[in-house]
Amino acid sequence: MTQADKGKSAIVFGASGGLGAGCVRALAREWPVVAIVYHRRREKAEALAAELPEGCRGYPVQCDVTDGASVRRAIADVTENCGPIGAAIYSAGVEIDQPYISETTEEQWQEVFNTEVLGFTRLISAVLPLFREQGGGVIVAVTSMANRRVVVGDTISAAPKAAIESLCRGIGKEEGRFGIRANTVAPGAMNAGLGEQYMAERWTPEFWEKFRKSIPLRRFGLAEDIGEAAAFFASDRASYLTGQTLIVDGGYTL
Ligand SMILES: NC(=O)c1ccc[n+]([C@@H]2O[C@H](COP(=O)([O-])OP(=O)(O)OC[C@H]3O[C@@H](n4cnc5c(N)ncnc54)[C@H](OP(=O)(O)O)[C@@H]3O)[C@@H](O)[C@H]2O)c1
Repeated sequence: MTQADKGKSAIVFGASGGLGAGCVRALAREWPVVAIVYHRRREKAEALAAELPEGCRGYPVQCDVTDGASVRRAIADVTENCGPIGAAIYSAGVEIDQPYISETTEEQWQEVFNTEVLGFTRLISAVLPLFREQGGGVIVAVTSMANRRVVVGDTISAAPKAAIESLCRGIGKEEGRFGIRANTVAPGAMNAGLGEQYMAERWTPEFWEKFRKSIPLRRFGLAEDIGEAAAFFASDRASYLTGQTLIVDGGYTL
């Protein structure tokens, strides 16, 4: 049975971003409706909705994940206008400089934990009761390979992802009996979203070429690499997987 047969929708937070858009495109091949959650970049969400293939309706929704009421409103809006939610994907993240830990400020930690960790808890508080009531549902969060191999300057981005992975493992154990699964996709260095921006703006071309050569598959990842992994976890093909992390990094952490 496909997702379309079940008449459920998928919702992607951070869908106006590089990796979230990759998740939307991959989900659109299997889900009849994908809600495209954006924060500030409405135009990105609308352009993405317009390019989805026939058979999938893209539904742009505004939401600020730092505000619990906004998250609850987005979930209620999608449930009402797109049908019950079968899968919730979290790819919302903060654009932050890559400081040494010694240089980080309390404000930076507050911003990144509020958006990423607390934002994710706001989402799960809103969807878990719905998933229990309907007898199941899937959660997928985009995290980072930087919890497997330290990337200097990236710990401010990696630490909240470790918390999100921990939450997904907890959900996997506590909610499995309700038919609820939770998994994470951990990207490596991506030529999409923030990664693409860093490659254009930071360090030298020589730095990035050396980085590329340190990746066993000798290329940076693409948004579709993350999308495929997220769509797999969201599908019934992953029906016996929960609390797991799929590292999508071209072998960088090996
Ligand atoms: N790209 C990489 O190389 C890479 C590698 C490893 C891990 N990651 C992680 O993967 C996640 C996604 O990264 P990305 O590259 O796709 O980032 P991105 O292109 O900068 O997208 C970030 C997304 O988060 C949304 N967002 C930010 N603040 C929000 C808020 N308060 N409420 C709701 N949404 C909010 C943005 O919405 P608007 O744009 O509409 O404001 C956007 O959709 C991040 O957590 C990132 O750290 C990325």
